[in-house]
Amino acid sequence: MTDIRRIPVAGEGFRPYDVVVGQGLLADPVKWIAPFLGNRRLVIVTDSHVGPLHAESLTGPFAAAGYATHVVTVPAGEQSKSYDGLKFVLDALLDLGLDRKDVVIALGGGVIGDLTGFACAIYMRGIDFIQVPTTVLAQVDSSVGGKTAIDHEKGKNLIGAFWQPRLVLCDLDVLKTLPVREIRCGYAEIIKYGLLGDRVFFDWLEANDTAVISLEPEALRRAISRSVEMKAEIVAADEREGGKRALLNLGHTFGHALEAEVGFGDILLHGEAVAIGMAQAFRYSAGAGLCPAADRDRAVAAIAHAGLPTRLSDIPAAGGRNEAFDADRLIRHMAGDKKAEGGNLTFILVKAIGEAYVAKKVDRNSIRDFLITDGAVLQETV
Ligand code: NAD
Ligand code: GLY
Repeated sequence: MTDIRRIPVAGEGFRPYDVVVGQGLLADPVKWIAPFLGNRRLVIVTDSHVGPLHAESLTGPFAAAGYATHVVTVPAGEQSKSYDGLKFVLDALLDLGLDRKDVVIALGGGVIGDLTGFACAIYMRGIDFIQVPTTVLAQVDSSVGGKTAIDHEKGKNLIGAFWQPRLVLCDLDVLKTLPVREIRCGYAEIIKYGLLGDRVFFDWLEANDTAVISLEPEALRRAISRSVEMKAEIVAADEREGGKRALLNLGHTFGHALEAEVGFGDILLHGEAVAIGMAQAFRYSAGAGLCPAADRDRAVAAIAHAGLPTRLSDIPAAGGRNEAFDADRLIRHMAGDKKAEGGNLTFILVKAIGEAYVAKKVDRNSIRDFLITDGAVLQETV
């Protein structure tokens, strides 16, 4: 058994809470969760993959302790982060008659955390929730920091609220049922922390990526704990993303454009898009003379070594999409991104491994030229 770590998240505008990281936390869920419950009932929101695998580990002990238990299950997948998914969850909470002393458990990946968190933010003007993240991505990123949302046909995460959880329980054991492709996607967000702000962590990841991805307990605990620490520090300084929090978007402006172009789904998962986006951020930065070529090469090699894509040509041509990506279409997606301000392109660029910064008003033509050298083409040739 690895040690259990408690990482506090404390900022000016919200009630502090802990992220607990360790093995076997769900072996005693009553110990961790019951102190937060105002009523003797446990209400879990989960998805159709995670519920059958892990809900019983919560409901069993709570039922044995005399609590009523309820499991609300939405279909697995991004499509549940929608008006329909939100209505389904809110209707279920109303049918159960939850009041403001109830605390809802979000058991699942980022989809469940974002959906449940947003439902809790608006149910009766706000009730508490606890995150029990079950993907690597959710443990190191989405469960921490209070961003909750559903998607809209005009884009991802466009309707939401900042609503912090009361507790985040990262049980490393629940990751054992996760497909390895999803583990790699979470690893993309882990290496992101090293690339954006901690060169020593990056050095360690470079040597330990296989151990982390194969869920070797001590390596996994260290990787997840350090990632959560970095996220907690950033959120404490800038909950509403007025400044430093934007650094967490390293690789995301490029990555979101690819996801939008390919269609959010199985062809290119979010972590894979972020992996390519981070490699592009390093290639663009090095090409513009902002970052040493040696750091670019190390960063890209480390992403590839983890089994993640780094180039547009790594994305399978499928779903009716031509093999080539059009540079102008990608830029249009970037301009519609939440990180675009007043029509200017905002990117997270790098001075070195571990030194990312927010670059505003980036010249579109320089991005266009870069995309063409990086494998995209111009419209008329697609
Ligand atoms: P996800 O929630 O869709 O989970 C991925 C898949 O793994 C799903 O099919 C799910 O059912 C399955 N799964 C989850 N846990 C499992 C387990 N332990 N065993 C087996 N299967 C399991 O996706 P995700 O990658 O966790 O999260 C992506 C979502 O997170 C996106 O909607 C993204 O916008 C959001 N996100 C939010 C933030 C934030 O700060 N709020 C940050 C990053 C991403
Ligand atoms: N995942 C980006 C953020 O939490 O700000």
